[in-house]
Amino acid sequence: MAQTAQLILDDKTFELPVIEGTEGEKAIDISKLRDQTGYVTLDIGYKNTGATKSAITFLDGEQGILKYRGYPIEQLAEKSSFIEVAYLLIYGELPTADQLKAFQYELSRHTLVHEDMKKFFDGFPSKSHPMGQLSSLVSALSAFYPESLKPSQTNEELNQSIIKMVAKMATVVSWIYKKSLGHPVIYPQNKYDYVTNFLNMTFGQRTEDVTIDPVVIDAMNKLLILHADHEQNCSASTVRIVGSSDSNIYASVSAGISALWGPLHGGANQAVIEMLEKIKEDGGDTDKWIAKAKDKNDPFRLMGFGHRVYKNFDPRAKIIKKACDDILEKLGINDEVLEIAKRLEEVALKDPYFVERKLYPNVDFYSGIIYRALGFPTDMFTVLFALGRLPGWIAQWKEMKENKEPIGRPRQIYVGATDKDYVDIANR
Ligand code: CMC
Repeated sequence: MAQTAQLILDDKTFELPVIEGTEGEKAIDISKLRDQTGYVTLDIGYKNTGATKSAITFLDGEQGILKYRGYPIEQLAEKSSFIEVAYLLIYGELPTADQLKAFQYELSRHTLVHEDMKKFFDGFPSKSHPMGQLSSLVSALSAFYPESLKPSQTNEELNQSIIKMVAKMATVVSWIYKKSLGHPVIYPQNKYDYVTNFLNMTFGQRTEDVTIDPVVIDAMNKLLILHADHEQNCSASTVRIVGSSDSNIYASVSAGISALWGPLHGGANQAVIEMLEKIKEDGGDTDKWIAKAKDKNDPFRLMGFGHRVYKNFDPRAKIIKKACDDILEKLGINDEVLEIAKRLEEVALKDPYFVERKLYPNVDFYSGIIYRALGFPTDMFTVLFALGRLPGWIAQWKEMKENKEPIGRPRQIYVGATDKDYVDIANR
């Protein structure tokens, strides 16, 4: 017999269905609670609310487990390419060699952005933040592809919108970087795979083909894979909720980019490097900064530490920490902030404040050190997170549409003023 939960309210007992996921997660289904009882639930910040049933990513915060479509993140990060993982997330299974070839080919046919898009790039001040530019530019793409505005697209149309979104994102990101330098943009070239094309458009010169170091290509693939999805986080939930009103793919992804920008979410990777630099300039006394992070009267937080869901360790951080050592060694770079980061981690992991609150390094703690070693400026870090997260946002958006989920619209408990009569302005 199906398990139910009993709820006693005003001396009446109500039966609520219990549902179980494939990894044993259990939930009480309260979708009919208001009809049955007149009550809603209250969970500010959705700390304990399942917003959907999803088959994309599984995450166990206690055990430090992360899997995309059932495949452990460790295996994907070691063996796969970013574009293979993008296919996995979006279409549900790892591609065969032919499927991967066809996917790459389709992507390569859509990497160009409309020439008129360049006028938007020109409109931004050269020092404006790349995340603000990215969110605006992705939204602007909808103006050039009006067929994507149709609320009910056929499967083929939907797939074309997805291909265009993935293909053009790498071009837009690299052009933001080129424009920030005041350099001419580099056009995409079909002979390259997705990640190499992106790196060539970012670091290449107009007059000559540069050879991108394979170490850099591998590192970039790994970082993008580790960021590719993370179930119902702030930006993915934003993408789903915006898309649930039948907004087009560009508008939905643009909203996700805005959600990611904040320093409590993807913006943490920029904040971490800025913090480490500040600690270095201040003499490198990690104890002092740990004390500041613990002081409730000090707004300082240890950026790159803590996570809403991971309460043991963040498996992505484990992989990135090792990758960070490997990549810096291979590239022959000695970065002092890496030593500061390691010291901070060591001190924090022994400190009762961090231990009791289960605060561990997250994905953003070491990623910025790698991005910097690869040659990216600090304000591009969160844009790189967005490039990696794109397949996840698309997979979440597509799943929401395929499940025919209703428009997202939470309830509230109103606590404002009641029954006031309008007072003429002269009498206030
Ligand atoms: N430094 C110092 N104290 C912290 C930190 C930190 N980084 N993170 C949490 N705490 C404390 C917090 O003050 C609170 O203490 P108390 O119980 O005494 O009030 C307790 O730990 C619980 O924190 P919370 O803010 O209630 O936890 P949350 O689940 O709402 O927030 C978080 C999670 C990631 C926003 C938070 O840990 C944080 O602000 N971390 C720093 C920013 C960061 O690195 N963000 C990137 C997250 S991973 C990338 C991504 O996917 O977005």
